[in-house]
Amino acid sequence: MAVNTSSKILSKVINSRVGLNFLVNGRRDIHVTSSVTMPVKIGDKLPSVDLYENSPASKVNIAELTAGKKVIIFGVPGAFTPGCSKTHLPGYVSDFDKFKSKGIDEIVCVSVNDPFVMAAWGKEHNADGKVRMLADTNGAFTKAMDLEKDLTGPLGSVRCQRFSMLVEDGVVKNANIEPDGTGLTCSLSNSLLSQL
Ligand code: BEZ
Repeated sequence: MAVNTSSKILSKVINSRVGLNFLVNGRRDIHVTSSVTMPVKIGDKLPSVDLYENSPASKVNIAELTAGKKVIIFGVPGAFTPGCSKTHLPGYVSDFDKFKSKGIDEIVCVSVNDPFVMAAWGKEHNADGKVRMLADTNGAFTKAMDLEKDLTGPLGSVRCQRFSMLVEDGVVKNANIEPDGTGLTCSLSNSLLSQL
């Protein structure tokens, strides 16, 4: 189901601890503490996190990159994976002019990969000058947005859920997170274009 989850599922990156006390035989015997985290939502400010472009020597702070600009950020589970290569990235590359005509200053692709892999992937898809290929090397951005997905089995590590976002002056204006984390529905280029 293609769902723009921005107004429903998404909630602020919060860490709430809920303590529950149960009365057993009139005594407070059990205390259960659970930790709840929820993904990025409209109105959130992007975290000040460094990503890497082309090499580990080239840091790009995502909060600085988006300051004073309209930026599309989309996240993928992995460079060179079939869905990301056949559908997700090519859509944003081919729609570059449409996004520009709607006032978008930059399009950014993020993945938990190393910057050399991201650069090679972008090159293969002629992303240069259209989509900036930023590596979330240690997953710090993904974690800060609470968009982690354990893909240890298929891809070898915790990765980023597939998502897209419109960010204006560092603030999230729209967000689409794939319901299953890897599907190719609401986070695709045409879906975001229709929201602009
Ligand atoms: C993909 O094709 O995009 C994909 C493959 C394996 C895991 C996650 C995504």
